Parts: sequence; C-alpha cells; structure tokens
Amino acid sequence: MDTSEQWAEVDRYFIDSLVDEDQALAAARESSAETLFPGIDVAPNMGAFLGLLVQLTAAERILEIGTLAGYSAIWMARAAGPQAQIITCELEQANARVAQANFDRTGVAEQVEIRLGPAAETLQQLIAEQAAPFDLVFIDADKRSNPAYLQAALQLSRPGTVILIDNTVRNGQVVDADSADPDIIGTRQLVADIAAEKRLTATAFQTVGLKGWDGFTLVRVN
Ligand code: DHB
Ligand code: MG
Repeated sequence: MDTSEQWAEVDRYFIDSLVDEDQALAAARESSAETLFPGIDVAPNMGAFLGLLVQLTAAERILEIGTLAGYSAIWMARAAGPQAQIITCELEQANARVAQANFDRTGVAEQVEIRLGPAAETLQQLIAEQAAPFDLVFIDADKRSNPAYLQAALQLSRPGTVILIDNTVRNGQVVDADSADPDIIGTRQLVADIAAEKRLTATAFQTVGLKGWDGFTLVRVN
C-alpha cells in the first residue's frame, strides 16, 4: 500500500466510524459526476467538519462560493437548521442544475439559494444590496479569485464572522513563490492579504486523505 492509499484508508476508517452520511447525501456527492468538475467536492469527513463548524459558530446566515453539486451546502444547511439561510454562488448553469435537484431531494431547498453567475459579480451585488452580514463564509471556487473573494467576504462580514477557504495547500505548491500557476498565485496572495489585514486572526492546516494532500485556511474577523 503506498502512502496515498494509506491516507485514503484512514479517511475511510474515520468516515465509516464517525460520519453519518445518509443515502440522499451520498447521492448528492456521487452526482458530482454529472457536473463539469467531477469529484472535486469536499470529502465526507470535510462535509461533517463544515456541519460542525456551522453548529460551533451557531451560523444561520451562510455564504458559499462554489456550489458544484451542492454537497457541502447540504451539510451546512442540515447542520444550521430550517431557520438558516445559505446563499451559494455558482458560475456554471450545468452544475447549478445538478445542485438544485440535490437541494430538492435532500429537503434543504427552502434554506438554500443558488446565485448563478461569476461569484465576484454576485458578491458585489450582495454588497450593493447591503445584505446582512454573514456568520460563516466558505470559499471553495476558482482559486485564482481567492483574493477578490476574501475582500468581498470582508465587506459582508461582522466581528466574529468565520471564513474558511478550501484547497490552500494544493500538493504543497503553495510554498512555490515562483509558481506561474494563477491558482497558486491567487492562493499566495490570499495568504498575504490575510496576514496584512489587522482585523483577521487566521491559521492554516495541511490535510491528507481521500483527496490527496491539500489543506484549508481558517479566518476570524475581529
Ligand atoms: C480542485 C478544486 C477544489 O475545490 C478541490 O477541493 C479540489 C480540487 C481543483 O480545481 O482541481
Ligand atoms: Mg475544494
């Protein structure tokens, strides 16, 4: 068994032991195969982590950037309960269609609203509408736009808002200061922006598992 197989086996052990993924949720995860980006949704243990984060922060207004098949939004919606509102931004109509069917099937359609279009534009609309601040923001879309997403998220935040950014390690590429990959450049700019913003407290973790070597960055607005 090579190392990545061991990472996957450990993930499967914890998921089988601890993560309660019902049939509808499993179907939503599997339906990412019908999106334009199969298999890049969060792993079940990350979904459960998102649900716990929602409950730990008592989040009721949740903003997600990057819907895909809706798997992560369903975890957050179920954890947040029926009074919660989730706005999830998706660029691709084909993905949004798959996600909407999953929201209908899993009984969270009342709580979750998909905003179709470039997320940077949707976020500017929310700012212009003077949308009430969000309690939790999950950024998990095109990584090159992460600096813009962070700036917009800050304008849609209040003291205490938690911002979680997925995929900030990318096989360790984040440490490559000379990378020409726009996604790595975007991630490194995100990290620099977080560091430079006095209002923010942050940390970041590497993870290994079913999805290989990656990680996330966790931020609190003070
Ligand atoms: C990719 C994007 C993700 O959000 C993820 O969790 C894994 C991979 C990608 O664009 O390759
Ligand atoms: Mg991701």
